[in-house]
This record gives sequence, C-alpha cells and structure tokens, in this order.
Amino acid sequence: MSKPSYVLVTGGAGYIGAHTAVELALAGFEPVLIDNLSRSNERLLKGIADVLGRNLIFHRGDCRDEKFLEDVFAKYPIAGVLHFAAFKAVGESVQQPELYYNNNLNSTLTLVRAMARVGVKPFVFSSSCTVYGEPDHIPVDESAPLKRAESPYGATKQMSERILEDEANTGRLRVISLRYFNPIGAHPSAKLGELPIGEPSNLVPYVTQAVAGKRKSLTVFGNDYPTPDGSCIRDFIHVVDLAKAHVVALQLLLSHSVAEAFQAINLGTGQGVSVLELINTFVRVTGVAVPFTIGPRRPGDVVKTYADVKRARERLKWQCEYSLDDALRHAWAWEQQLSHSIP
Ligand code: UD1
Repeated sequence: MSKPSYVLVTGGAGYIGAHTAVELALAGFEPVLIDNLSRSNERLLKGIADVLGRNLIFHRGDCRDEKFLEDVFAKYPIAGVLHFAAFKAVGESVQQPELYYNNNLNSTLTLVRAMARVGVKPFVFSSSCTVYGEPDHIPVDESAPLKRAESPYGATKQMSERILEDEANTGRLRVISLRYFNPIGAHPSAKLGELPIGEPSNLVPYVTQAVAGKRKSLTVFGNDYPTPDGSCIRDFIHVVDLAKAHVVALQLLLSHSVAEAFQAINLGTGQGVSVLELINTFVRVTGVAVPFTIGPRRPGDVVKTYADVKRARERLKWQCEYSLDDALRHAWAWEQQLSHSIP
C-alpha cells in the first residue's frame, strides 16, 4: 500500500473542519489538524476519534503564528491545505470589525506565506454564499457579481478569495474556493456535530437548543418577506455532503488536472427552503414540537438565496446524498447526545 498523503486542515476542531477531517481519513488521507481552540474545543476532536476509532494528528496553534506553521510544515510532508480556521459570527463582526479582519485575513496571509516557503500549492478555501449578498438571480451561479459585503465577516470572505486568486495567478497556489450555502446537520453517528459557543446565531442549532430546553423559544426573524410563507429562503446542505465535496476538491487539485489557477464552486443542494418550512420539517421528522415566536427581521438578512450547483456537479462530479429530513434528524440526534453527556 502506498503511503498516505498528509493534508493540513486548519480549524480542524471546528464544525465543518472536523466533519471534513473524518471524510479525508476515510478517503485514505492523513489529516494534520491545527486549531487554536478559541472558538472550538477538544470535544469535536474526541468525536472524530470516536467515529474513526483512532486519534488524528492534532497541534494546537494559531494560523497567524508564522513559527507554528513553519514547524508544522517542517514536521509533515504536507501535500495540500484545507483552510477552515476563521471567525464566522456575522453580528460579532459588525461589533468588532478589527477582530475579524485581523483574524480571518492574517491567518490566510500567514498560511499562504508558509505554503510558498515550502512550495505546497493545492489550497481548498472555506468560502460562503455571503460573497453574493442579495443575488439578482436565483439560483445563484458562480459568475454572479460579488456585491458589497453586508458585514465585516462577509468582507473577509470576499477579500480572502481575492488574495487567493491573486496568489494563484502568480503560479504559487492552485485554489478551489468552496462557497457554502447553509451547512446544517451532524454526523449520522451522532458522535460529531455543531458546538456553538454561547447563544447560537444560526437557525438549526437554535432550533435544537430550543427543543432541548436550553433556550426558551426560537424567534423567527420576520414573516413579512416577499416569499410564499413570508419567511426567508435558504439552501440548507448536510454537513457530511459538504465535507465530502472538500475531499473531491482536494483530489482534483492533487491530480493536476485543473486548468484554472483559482476557481470558486458553490456548495448547496440547489433547493430553496423557507425558515418556516424547515421548522415544520423538523417537527415532522423528529415528532417533537419547536417552541417559536415571530419576531422582527434581522438586519442584514438576505431574503432569498439558493445555489446553482451545476459547476459542483460537473467539475467535482459531486452531489448531495442526504436530504433535509436526514440533516434535521441528525442535528436532533446530536443535540440529544450532547444533552445527555454535558451536564
Ligand atoms: C449566516 C450569514 C452567512 C454566514 C453563515 C455562517 C447572514 C446574513 N449570513 O447565514 O454569511 O456564512 O451565517 O454562519 O448573517 N433565523 C431565524 N432565527 C434564528 C436564527 C436564524 O429566524 O434564531 C433565520 C435567519 O433570519 C435566516 C435563516 O434563519 O433567514 C438562516 O439563518 P442563519 O442560520 O443565521 O444563516 P444565514 O443568515 O443564512
């Protein structure tokens, strides 16, 4: 058997990083996880080990720490990088823009420098549909114009993409930037899932925490939007499907068969689902009631967006395997498991 390829996963103890680490290991890679654990904790590292039956390599450190990255690249023959490490709370980014620009941009820049030093080119970036803002056409495809970002968080994703594109154009990197729509759900084993710090700002962890009694009630942010039921429409994608797309993107970059130095690819289901539809689906698949009230609109929310997934299908030869029902069932199983294990 040939030796496995080491791949660096920044933010490997986070929600999407951890699910991707599992899929990378299952695909035969040797993931090297790094994380400063500032917005995550070792709980998900344990979850990864529970799913795989072994610990993955992990080093605690910050992506802005040049020396730390140098040491990691010196220790392992890294073939490619998947960069998840970033702050992602939209509201917080509006309150503390410097924190977001400093963390999200400097981590990307430091990583790019470290990679250039050792000559590693394949780079999979964790981007977001937030780069499109409120799209003029839906489903939104990758050629849609990037509008002025609504938040500093969104701006860091746009700027990181630009930095990576410019670097890729020098020939020093080969980049696939994956633009996620709304990742939800948990590993089907219920050993791995989302672990929000404090009050969740995203919909599904709020739903599961409200149902588990950790929150009084979910507030639906607005039911007076110009949509069929008045609530916002999103494209909710199962986190394991999302994770698998990263493996394929990396394999593509490693195969040297990509023509573009930089390419952006949407990751979604291609289906629009409203917030109220999601709540009804949750109730149907789990059999438990969701306590919720209707509140005012949340500033900065896009009304309606879902992905055109043609490029992902064609270039990655990838498509979603899990349904919304699966994602919500898995999210609830994970929440129940957490409630049992954390006092
Ligand atoms: C948000 C960010 C997006 C980012 C992603 C990462 C905005 C505008 N977008 O996506 O850029 O990449 O998080 O975490 O903030 N909702 C409720 N009640 C709640 C929570 C959410 O009704 O308690 C609604 C929201 O109004 C929205 C939908 O649920 O319509 C999804 O919200 P959320 O899960 O926060 O994701 P996005 O806002 O789509």
